[in-house]
Amino acid sequence: DAQKEGYDHYMLKEIHEQPMALRRALRGRIDAGIEVPAWLLDHPDGVPVRFVACGTSYHAALYAVELLQKRGISAQASLASEFATSPPPLVDGSVVVGVTQSGETADTLGALRRASEAGARTLAVTNVVGSTAARECDDAIFIRAGPEIGVAATKTFSSQVVTLALLAERLADADTGILQALSTVPDALQYVLDHTTAPQVARTYADASAYFFVGRGVAHSVSLEGALKLKEISYEHAEGFPAGELKHGPLALVTPETPVFAIETGDHSDRMRGTVEEVQARGAPVVAVTHPESAVAAAAETVLPIPETHPELAGLLANAQLQLLSYHTARLLDRPVDKPRNLAKSVTVE
Ligand code: G6P
Repeated sequence: DAQKEGYDHYMLKEIHEQPMALRRALRGRIDAGIEVPAWLLDHPDGVPVRFVACGTSYHAALYAVELLQKRGISAQASLASEFATSPPPLVDGSVVVGVTQSGETADTLGALRRASEAGARTLAVTNVVGSTAARECDDAIFIRAGPEIGVAATKTFSSQVVTLALLAERLADADTGILQALSTVPDALQYVLDHTTAPQVARTYADASAYFFVGRGVAHSVSLEGALKLKEISYEHAEGFPAGELKHGPLALVTPETPVFAIETGDHSDRMRGTVEEVQARGAPVVAVTHPESAVAAAAETVLPIPETHPELAGLLANAQLQLLSYHTARLLDRPVDKPRNLAKSVTVE
């Protein structure tokens, strides 16, 4: 209990450690740029940067794919277990980045080993210096989140995204303004933690039959992560979808008993307005996870507010709101927040 420093759970403590963890992830890497291996900086144009990862780390990889593609760099993310059974064609000059908090996840290690055997260069993006991934890959970049005890990953997701954003900017040809925005993100995240309405929102929807999360671009990866977090620790049915895909099937599940969390980062406002109307027409209450003055917030029943920031980083702030939503929902349902059933912090079997 002493190690929880007054928090009821490690998860809550780790959510609150995020501003500090992000400052550490960024230290010395904004002005000088993050150190990236030369083989990655010089990899042939058109050869995709391939990410392999599991769980929350996969969602951070999807976030990174969006950032790289926006910079004209071809990128793909694969679930590590799928990469192992259905590997993409790899040639000399291929680059594979394993995103793994622990550096010990067997599926991710397996994918990295297969990539290496096929002639690809490998990079580990990990939290643990001396982990198997860090030792076995050609190079490693550390996310500096500090130890994470709660089974549900929280601060490591944020630290992965920030580190991968630094990496994306380093690989890009032009300055996109994200570095300046990154330097303000720890304070913006602190603001979210200090002003969250997640406890009230969790109470309002604690009897929901299912929870849906929708977003576009980086907010799509956040929708998947929001749903995963809620499943993991509350045992409630939750799913994340790309907002545009709702009409191709998931809309059949939407009812007045299924709140829809619409994550809007500032660059897809009109389309997200359409999504909000689509689900409201089926009676679903909408929680907008966005800036309180946006059109999506105005259309929604409830808002989980985030301060104005670079659209590529707004997803991180939205994610912190969703972490708190999951935490408070799990508390209301009396779940063992730090040790959810059937799950392990690090899965060391394939
Ligand atoms: C387990 C954990 C997840 C985590 C995943 C990947 O399934 O329960 O929270 O996201 O492993 O872990 P890694 O250490 O590779 O990031």
